[in-house]
Amino acid sequence: MSPRGASGARPARAPATPRAFDAFARRRARLARELARAGRRTAALFAAGHDAMRNGDVEHEFRQPSTFYYLTGFEEPDAVALLRPGHAQPYVLFVRPHDPAMAIWVGPRAGVEGAVERYGADAAYPVEELDQRLPQLLDGCDTVYYSFGADERVERLLTRTIAARRGMAQRGATAIERVLDPFALVAAQRVVKSAEEVAALRRAIDITGAGIAAAMRATRPGLHEYEVQAVLEAEYRRLGSPRNGFPSIVAAGANACTLHYTANRAEIRDGELLLLDTGAEYDYYGADVTRTFPANGRFSAAQRAVYDVVLAAQAAAIALVAPGVRFHEVHERALRVIVDGLRDLGVLRGTRAQLTKDAAYRPYFMHATSHWLGLDVHDVGAYREPPGADGADSKPTASVVLRPGMVLTVEPGLYIAPDAKAPRALRGIGVRIEDDILVTRTGHENLSRGIPSAPAELEALAGAAPA
Ligand code: GLY
Ligand code: MN
Ligand code: MN
Repeated sequence: MSPRGASGARPARAPATPRAFDAFARRRARLARELARAGRRTAALFAAGHDAMRNGDVEHEFRQPSTFYYLTGFEEPDAVALLRPGHAQPYVLFVRPHDPAMAIWVGPRAGVEGAVERYGADAAYPVEELDQRLPQLLDGCDTVYYSFGADERVERLLTRTIAARRGMAQRGATAIERVLDPFALVAAQRVVKSAEEVAALRRAIDITGAGIAAAMRATRPGLHEYEVQAVLEAEYRRLGSPRNGFPSIVAAGANACTLHYTANRAEIRDGELLLLDTGAEYDYYGADVTRTFPANGRFSAAQRAVYDVVLAAQAAAIALVAPGVRFHEVHERALRVIVDGLRDLGVLRGTRAQLTKDAAYRPYFMHATSHWLGLDVHDVGAYREPPGADGADSKPTASVVLRPGMVLTVEPGLYIAPDAKAPRALRGIGVRIEDDILVTRTGHENLSRGIPSAPAELEALAGAAPA
């Protein structure tokens, strides 16, 4: 099916539904306060995403870039948002206008009317008028916040406007003297989650838990990884998650040693572990949870020994999470247990201090323990403090201090490749265990604690569904 006679016009997805738009207005107001610190004549520009053609007139599924959604709640492509703190019309949206012919195919767009009535814009215009109107709307601004690399059309227009204004400044117009990147300001805001963001994450995590439980129950040797993936993701859709936060990793046996394995085509064999690294998205917030369990419902002694090391490393790292702790301390805590475990398993020999200094663990644990989680699975937010004013820009700065409202994963793993120099029984075993941890005022809350990870629970769940 294709929209007849609509060459050049692109079908849209279902229009955005009105929701708690106060939250988006609060975020814009907060950002506006930050922007105003750079002076009284600032503006900020944010570009929505664009449809990406898959073939002919069929597009890839569209998802609004997270920052644009975070600030606007607007889910349609091609829009541009302009913030002008202190101005009589501080929030201007450029959007695709409503198109009755396209609406027959893909439903109505919000249009300029919807942008004002449903999305809180003080003024809205068709995006076709961007080139004509933006220079005027930036009149009087000497500082524009914009993240270069986001949108070529906005960039060209901004460049032209800067050049034109420079000439006019000779006759008294305000020149645009500074273009600053708003990325770090927005990231600093996004990395600390509000109550409603945590509620969306909770829902995404609960749905993910239900999917993982269903997938575990359905797992049995002889199935293919994609069959388990189908059970997992069917549960996500059934429970109202419109999409995954990232492609599901369903990795049997040694496939788990490929960290971002997404082929998911192999047969699951008797005696193998199955690793699920997955997250449903809900209201744009995504979970990120990993569970590794025996496909036939019984850990072998070697699998269990590896699993217990990773579980202990994870427990020790999670226990540390609290306000005031530095981000990298969480990794260091997990690493200590992993290094000790590799010695106990007979994979490494030497003192903990030396093995850590030499990074001897790296062939078996080669990724970070944590990342921020939110609208994006690897969410925005600095991991290190910004460089100080001492000019020591090239020196690594201290790791950031955890604050209430931050959400991070804790996901140690051990990956003993089939050709690893390790005891034979351990080769081909890959284990990762990942939970989503909210930093609270007094410590932390493991938002995914309801998803079983204790060995006995995993053994009871695996294959529990009737065949
Ligand atoms: N699912 C990707 C990650 O755990 O970081
Ligand atoms: Mn993950
Ligand atoms: Mn992760």
